[in-house]
Amino acid sequence: MQGREPLGVIGAGWVGLVTAACFAELGHEVVVRDIDAERIGELEDGRLPIFEPGLDEVLAQNRGRIRFTLDIAEIFDAARVAFICVGTPSTYSGDADLTAVWHVLDELPELQDRVLLVMKSTVPVGTGEKIRQRLDDKGLAHVGYVSNPEFLAEGTAVENFRHPDRVVVGAFAEADGAKVAGLYEPTGAPLVTTDVASAEMIKLASNAFLATRISFINEIANVCEVTGADVADVARGMGLDHRLGPHFLRPGIGYGGSCFPKDVAALKQLAGNSGYHFQLLSAVIEVNELQKRRVVGKLKKHLGPLRGKEIALLGLAFKPNTNDLREASSLVLASRLLAEGARVRAWDPIAIEDARKLLKGVEFATTLREAVAGADAAVVVTEWDEVRELPTPELRDSMRRPLIVDGRNFLDPEAARAIGFTYEGIGRAASTLGAIQQAEQTEPELA
Ligand code: UDX
Repeated sequence: MQGREPLGVIGAGWVGLVTAACFAELGHEVVVRDIDAERIGELEDGRLPIFEPGLDEVLAQNRGRIRFTLDIAEIFDAARVAFICVGTPSTYSGDADLTAVWHVLDELPELQDRVLLVMKSTVPVGTGEKIRQRLDDKGLAHVGYVSNPEFLAEGTAVENFRHPDRVVVGAFAEADGAKVAGLYEPTGAPLVTTDVASAEMIKLASNAFLATRISFINEIANVCEVTGADVADVARGMGLDHRLGPHFLRPGIGYGGSCFPKDVAALKQLAGNSGYHFQLLSAVIEVNELQKRRVVGKLKKHLGPLRGKEIALLGLAFKPNTNDLREASSLVLASRLLAEGARVRAWDPIAIEDARKLLKGVEFATTLREAVAGADAAVVVTEWDEVRELPTPELRDSMRRPLIVDGRNFLDPEAARAIGFTYEGIGRAASTLGAIQQAEQTEPELA
C-alpha cells in the first residue's frame, strides 16, 4: 500500500486504539502514545486491554505500521497530525472533566513546524475556543486545531470507522479542516465541514437525540403496558415513517455505556452553565433512571416481597458484544434488588471479572444454567445470544419458579409461554396481562 501521511494518536483507550488501527489499515504509519506504562507494555506484547470485535485482527494485521510509546515527543517526531483521544468523564456536577485534555496541552513539546491537533474526545461546546486561546498564550499560534468528533458505537466500532454515516470536521482555518477531511476520503463518507463550536455541538446533540429517542420509546412502552397496546408493533409502525426511521426505538431497561449518560449530562450542564435550562434533557435522564428500576416492580408483582427471593440476572454489560459496565443498568438493578433483600446471582459471558469488583454482595455464575438453577425469576438484562437458550423445558424445571422478566424484549413471548414460563417483557400489555392471568392461575397467593 502507498505510504500515507504519518499520524499520531494521543490516548490508547477504546477510541484511540480503534482510530489508530483503522488509520493504519488505510496505510498510515501511526504512533500511539499513552501515559499508562502497563497498557503500553500490553499493547507492545500484542495484548489488547479492551474488548472490541475485530479490533485485535486489524491491529495484528497492521502491527508493522503502529508504534506504541510513553513519550509524547515521539508523536511529533513522526507526525504532523495528532488525534487527541483521551477520556472526558463526568465530574460530580455533570460537567465534562477535561483534566486529561489540558494535561496533553501542558505536555506538548517544543513544536517548530505547523502541526495539527485534532480533537476526537467528546468535549463541551466552546472547548476548542479555549484550547485555541491556550495554544496562542503558549506561543503556539502556528499549531492548528480541528474538531473531529467520533461516532463509534461499542461492538461495531471498526465497521463504524470503515463506513461512517458522516465525517464531521470543524476548523478555525479552512486548510486545516481540508487536511483532516482528506484523511477520511477512502471511506467515501459524506463530509460536514463547519466551525469548531458547531462540530462540538453535532456530537453532543447527536448523542442526546439518540438518548431522547430511547427515553421516548421507553415512556411509550410504559403507557402501552397500562393501555393494552404492544410497543413492539408500535415501534415498528412508527419506524416505517421515513421521517422517523426505525433506529433507537427499542424499549428496555434504560440506556447505559460510556457515552450517552455522560454526554446527555454534559449537554444539560453546558446549557445550564450558559443560563439555559434544557428541560427536555432533564426528563430524558429522569426517565432513564426510573426505567432501570421498573424491573423491580415487575418482579414484585409476580413474587410479592423480594426478601429471600433468588433472582438471576442474565447479562451485565451495558449492551452485548462488550465487557463495558460503565453506567450499565445492571449495576443499578442489582443494587436495588439487594436493597430489597433479594439474593442476586449474575451471569455474563465476558463482564464477570470486572463486575466482581463493582458489585459487592452479588453471587456470580459461570454459566447461564448455573445462574437460573433454583431461581425465582430470570431477568434478561443484556441481549447476549446465549440468552436465547433460556426458554427450554430443562431450564424451566431447574428454576424454583419459571418466571422470565425480559428487560430487552429479546425473547419470543409466545414461545416462552408455550414452554410453560410466565413471561413479562417491557411495554407489551398483551403479554403482561397474559402473565398476570397465568400467575393468578398458578400462584394465587402471590398474584
Ligand atoms: C453510543 C452512540 O451510538 C455512538 O455514536 C457514540 O459515539 C457513543 O455512544 P454506544 O454507547 O457504544 O454508542 O452504544 P449504543 O449502541 O448506541 O447503545 C447505547 C445504550 O442504549 C445501550 O445501553 C443500549 O442497550 C441502549 N439502547 C440502544 C436502547 O435501550 N434502545 C435502543 O433502541 C438503542
